[in-house]
Amino acid sequence: MGIDHLAGAKSWLLTTSRSAYALGVDGEGNLQHLYWGEKLPRLEDYPLPALPAPYSFESPQGLANLEYPGWGGLIFAEPCLKALYADFTRDVVLKYEGFQVFEAGEVAGALRPAELVVQLRDEPYRLAVDLHYRVYEEENLIERFAVVENQGEQAVQLEIVHSAAWYVPRAASYRLSYLVGKWAGETQLTRAQVVVGKILLESRRGSTSHQANPWFALDPGDSEEERGPVWFGALGWSGNWKFCVEQTPYGQVRVTGGVNDFDFSWRLEPGESFRTPPFYGGYSGAGFGAASRALHRFQRNRLLPRPAAGRPRPVLYNSWEATAFEVSEAGQIALAEKAAAIGVELFVLDDGWFGARSSDRAGLGDWTVNQQKFPRGLQPLIHKVNELGMDFGLWVEPEMVNPASDLYRSHPEWVYRFPARPGTLSRNQLVLNLAIDEVREYLFASLSRLLEENRIAYLKWDHNRHFSEPGWPGGPPQRQREIWVRHVLGFYELVERLRSRFPQTIFESCSGGGGRVDLGVLQRMDQCWPSDNTDALDRLGIHHGYSQVYCARTMVAWVTDSPNFATRRALPLEFRFHSAMTGVLGIGGNLNRWSEEELQVARRLVTLYKQIRPLVQDGDQYRLAEPGQADFSAVQYLAPDASAAVVFAFLRTEGPASGEARIFPRGLSPERLYRLSTSGRARRGAALMKQGIRLRLSGGFRSQVILLRWAERPSAFEGNAPR
Ligand code: DGJ
Repeated sequence: MGIDHLAGAKSWLLTTSRSAYALGVDGEGNLQHLYWGEKLPRLEDYPLPALPAPYSFESPQGLANLEYPGWGGLIFAEPCLKALYADFTRDVVLKYEGFQVFEAGEVAGALRPAELVVQLRDEPYRLAVDLHYRVYEEENLIERFAVVENQGEQAVQLEIVHSAAWYVPRAASYRLSYLVGKWAGETQLTRAQVVVGKILLESRRGSTSHQANPWFALDPGDSEEERGPVWFGALGWSGNWKFCVEQTPYGQVRVTGGVNDFDFSWRLEPGESFRTPPFYGGYSGAGFGAASRALHRFQRNRLLPRPAAGRPRPVLYNSWEATAFEVSEAGQIALAEKAAAIGVELFVLDDGWFGARSSDRAGLGDWTVNQQKFPRGLQPLIHKVNELGMDFGLWVEPEMVNPASDLYRSHPEWVYRFPARPGTLSRNQLVLNLAIDEVREYLFASLSRLLEENRIAYLKWDHNRHFSEPGWPGGPPQRQREIWVRHVLGFYELVERLRSRFPQTIFESCSGGGGRVDLGVLQRMDQCWPSDNTDALDRLGIHHGYSQVYCARTMVAWVTDSPNFATRRALPLEFRFHSAMTGVLGIGGNLNRWSEEELQVARRLVTLYKQIRPLVQDGDQYRLAEPGQADFSAVQYLAPDASAAVVFAFLRTEGPASGEARIFPRGLSPERLYRLSTSGRARRGAALMKQGIRLRLSGGFRSQVILLRWAERPSAFEGNAPR
């Protein structure tokens, strides 16, 4: 496993626990993609680079699967790189220059994966392109990114600089799976046939977006949840992104992706370099479920910020749906008392606590406590919350400003705008220009002050509009189109600086729901808010899409009031809880209106959640029955050693289930006996997986939690299992 040479020094094989990826240099110095898929028995079984036969109107290079095609010569593939040189040459000719291999090992306490760097070069202009391949063996993933360095003497303008092009083997046809959505309806899993031509998935909105999420999966069209080949990838970037899924008339199928080249350019002065965001890719021979589990494991083991990565995510209460902007010390304390009584661990004060914020029309930018609402500051509330045994968390939206704010009045030049256009307002706010150093310094100072002066264990970092008029008046003329990237880098830098100063603070990414969920944000933030839609039934579909890419310990879900404020759908309290318990449990209802009986149910289910939390947050996820396919859906989380599992099942109709509802757990130890929390009976893993478990879901919108754990000897999760 790791990195091997294929025959000849200029071809490499990257192997993970369950896949292989090969690339090599052909006789003309082009770096070609050779293979991606199932591991083959011997090194000599992998193909070696060869130039395709010529074909009219094409070049051999143009027909080859180039790992990182530049736009130049007769290469008409979607390019990874396009540059403008000082002499107005607009193409790029990349040839092999050298390589380096770094063994896997421990560096400064962290596990460094094996890494291959292949160096390409456009010689006349001395533009160096290093292609990085990190091999995560156990997680079955490869990380790719490129570093482009101007080693010449004149500036270069990069016009396209993607992270990678991924190729799937030539086959009769492919199906694309991807995630689309909208506000309150994010991460909807969608499938489409790939045909000759291009499918474009992208965001041009300044951030990741609700409308599409940077993930893809390709399969022959008949792969299933636990069967068949699936090639997949996800980008670690929280700004404008683009995936071009391209099938050529010659049967090549590739996905080229990275920072969106729309309205983009980046100036490289001599000696400067540009590093693309990471693009993670993997091959699963065992369906979509195994593909997701690889991504989940990677997030848990490698990506999520340390030291919090493995810590249990607390059960939180958030007051937004209960109080909106009407926040006060007494009102929040009343809710905090109820929240503490049902077992909440983190009490979060949402929007409305700062500046002149009595609605969404004012206050953003002024990160000081609103004196009318909290005349004594936040301290007494925090003190009370802590006294009740909970941590305190706070909402912020640092990248935004309302024109009605002290910040805007003193620095109207700090927002993106085009000089002759009025700035288009969205939710009455404008976007701060994070390319400007002073803006980042102001935000760092304001947030640091907040965190220093108050005992804040958690920040919910919101982002409630997309970009318009993305101009930078006063910025360097040739760097105007860099704002798309500079904003994201500025956002990352801010979070990283805050994290290193306040390492115990939990960060949650929110953007009017799930508008900024991606692997770039999850490298820097602990968890995400997937949607403002808190309807527990709609959430099942949103969670299903979310789980294709992102792991449950990042997926926050609140139990809110019934009927739901947005959909007006009424759902049983247990159903609402069970739906939210499939991720990081939160409560978002107005607890003042919950009856004593409801509060008791809540207390029982919060206790249950804490007991199964290690399974949900650290276990492997199996999607047993997809929402939308049948009357019921089900999801399972399995302990890493298979010693325990929890299954959540949901009846999705108002009436009884039609026919028999039965679920088939997966991944159990076939020989072991498992005791079921529902019947108390012990059954062998093999029998459970083959014969299934009959669900008791009669009546409308019923749900069930079933715990399975080793009957003969305690599982590592025994202490956490409910009695
Ligand atoms: C959008 C978020 O998604 C909500 O949860 C809430 O925090 C509001 N913003 C507050 O303005």
